[in-house]
Amino acid sequence: MRETIKTLLEEFRREIASAITSSDLEHIRIKYLARKGQIAMLYESLRDVPASEKPSVGKEINQLRDSVQSELDAKREEIESTRVQSVSKIDLSLPGRPKPIGTKHPITQTIDAIKLIFARMGFSVADGPEIESDYYNFEALNFPADHPARDMQDTFFVEKDVVLRTHTSPVQIRVMENQQPPVRVIIPGRVYRNEAVSTRSHVLFHQIEGLYVDKGVTFSELKGTLVSFVKQFYGSDVKYKFRPTFFPFTEPSADMYISCFICSGKGCRVCKFGGWLEILGSGMVHPNVYNFVGYDPEVYSGYAFGMGIERIAMLRYGIDDIRLFFENDVRFLRMF
Ligand code: DAH
Repeated sequence: MRETIKTLLEEFRREIASAITSSDLEHIRIKYLARKGQIAMLYESLRDVPASEKPSVGKEINQLRDSVQSELDAKREEIESTRVQSVSKIDLSLPGRPKPIGTKHPITQTIDAIKLIFARMGFSVADGPEIESDYYNFEALNFPADHPARDMQDTFFVEKDVVLRTHTSPVQIRVMENQQPPVRVIIPGRVYRNEAVSTRSHVLFHQIEGLYVDKGVTFSELKGTLVSFVKQFYGSDVKYKFRPTFFPFTEPSADMYISCFICSGKGCRVCKFGGWLEILGSGMVHPNVYNFVGYDPEVYSGYAFGMGIERIAMLRYGIDDIRLFFENDVRFLRMF
């Protein structure tokens, strides 16, 4: 009988040690403590124990019952407290923690806005290398060797005949070399100039180039497209004008101006009291350029344009120092 009591206690302890949930515990409780459980059965078999031993065996069963009861209670408490703890780790009523995410750089935002307008007019996007050969940056764009036109651009040389591109125009050549007309692309990208850094100019800036070549493209299409662009970008009541100028790779060439949207043309600091802002260069692609890429200038014609993004973004956001774009000061970047 004593043996039975001992093994029963051992068995109980093994079971309780591997119990995990309160329903595991309930099964164990029923097995040992219920009215027809193991311990009740022990009390019943007390009948067959010799009278002299009954008191001491009875006492042992009592002890077993008490241990089982108190160990069950202890285990129940343990299980419940871990449940409360793990539940309290996930407080479903807490508001979510916002993850700080970055925003697009104001230059990227400006490029995106311009891209979208031209995409709606049927332009696709192309790009090309920032380290460029003299051939693409100058020669194929009709800048003759040693011609003073090259002085229009202050160039960083990587080595002889290899430059950091001074404009996005060389990508015009690369696009036309790889594709027959009709060609209708815009080309955003970084460009480099060897200039003194100041509030107004930097060694690094961005341009968007545009190119449209097909049969019978006219100067009035150039005007129509660019006017449509400035109206969408600056508002439909913007005033504009074209003024003749010179670029080696276009003929005729024109700079486009818009009325100052700060003062509506009355004159202010932004437009240097002239009422007009120059926003881009443009023109009809020069026949010599077609010869470089193997297009027949008798068959095809087209226009091109190029604009500086920093200038447009500075006007758009009222920023008065170009250097802010490249310093990556988060206090500045967070404003956009
Ligand atoms: N590449 C010129 C510059 O950097 C801008 C430009 C003018 C681009 C006229 C053009 C164009 O495509 O037709 O100053």
